Amino acid sequence: MMTDSEVFKEGLAGVPAAKSRVSHVDGTDGILEYRGIRIEELAKSSSFIEVAYLLIWGKLPTQGELEEFEYEIRTHRRIKYHIRDMMKCFPETGHPMDALQTSAAALGLFYARRALDDPNYIRAAVVRLLAKIPTMVAAFHMIREGNDPIQPNDKLDYASNFLYMLTEKEPDPFAAKVFDVCLTLHAEHTMNASTFSARVTASTLTDPYAVIASAVGTLAGPLHGGANEEVLNMLEEIGSVENVRPYVEKCLANKQRIMGFGHRVYKVKDPRAIILQDLAEQLFAKMGHDEYYEIAVELEKVVEEYVGQKGIYPNVDFYSGLVYRKLDIPSDLFTPLFAIARVAGWLAHWKEQLSVNKIYRPTQIYIGDHNLSYVPMTERVVSVARNEDPNAII
Ligand code: ACO
Repeated sequence: MMTDSEVFKEGLAGVPAAKSRVSHVDGTDGILEYRGIRIEELAKSSSFIEVAYLLIWGKLPTQGELEEFEYEIRTHRRIKYHIRDMMKCFPETGHPMDALQTSAAALGLFYARRALDDPNYIRAAVVRLLAKIPTMVAAFHMIREGNDPIQPNDKLDYASNFLYMLTEKEPDPFAAKVFDVCLTLHAEHTMNASTFSARVTASTLTDPYAVIASAVGTLAGPLHGGANEEVLNMLEEIGSVENVRPYVEKCLANKQRIMGFGHRVYKVKDPRAIILQDLAEQLFAKMGHDEYYEIAVELEKVVEEYVGQKGIYPNVDFYSGLVYRKLDIPSDLFTPLFAIARVAGWLAHWKEQLSVNKIYRPTQIYIGDHNLSYVPMTERVVSVARNEDPNAII
């Protein structure tokens, strides 16, 4: 019989946390499927809203179903003025992910009825979250710049409307199409930290706004979302194609991670990075060259030469920052964009969790003391460990 220590896996690495039909990753062959359909096909032929429908309802919609879903989302994009007023009280220097987490949780105050066994309630929650999260991201961005939020434009599709709410200009259709594909690529990715967080929260049968707020909070951490922002900083630091090789050599010598490379599951180039690189090239051909692109291509070549044999290749974050930069999106909105897309995956997992629910209640291996005496205050000594050892368990 296995002991607790043998069963224990740091970070639950490789431990299945659910049986799921939502998506599948094959890290050896570089395959990602949503509901069994390859990401390449979806990126080429579908749209983000259709992909959201596929993920959440488990099948591709008919024309009528898609039109109805799009219409519902389009007509629920506005946010209540109370939420806008609440955002005006946030510090302008606050991170947009923190603003989003707070605002997503606040939706639960305004749509407080909870009826998890009512399909109409589920549908309304799905529509509201998909519709309002982009509006909240854009509204906080406008407010922190000292402007009034821009109202959603009902004439525009999902991707175009988001870009419009950031600038009050209707975007170039090709730019909007590229952005829509980016949303598709980020919509879902199996049992990562934020999805697990969403499922744990869902398993308590709380409301869906709390589920999405907890997932947003998890995505905000630098080990999860956020590497694409760092890729841009790194390309800026490298500065020129000639500096790439010395930069890589220095990083590897110092055991420093090169941002946008490596993945827990993929040991080949992330299929999303392949699609994003192609999109970036198309975007540069149409909207003008980007000085960082040659640096990025050279970096990929040199990193592969040095550590490709370890399975270190570009991940989804490597080229996405370059695409967003060309779309004039501020870099601290990159993780909120990830969240806008991933709401679709989180909602799919929320529904799946409800359908088979058992509350998550793992165990632990207790490594603390036993049978200690309660020491009266006057007899206690100052803990030196607290001052001297930052890792001490107190
Ligand atoms: N640059 C250089 N070397 C790397 C990198 C990297 N980016 N990633 C892994 N390695 C090396 C490690 O040093 C290690 O080498 P060693 O065996 O000689 O010690 C080996 O590859 C294996 O590394 P692990 O830490 O076991 O890989 P793991 O699967 O745990 O890490 C992770 C995956 C966290 C994504 C890592 O590759 C990394 O930190 N990448 C940079 C940050 C990044 O781009 N994050 C975005 C990930 S995608 C996403 O979250 C949406």
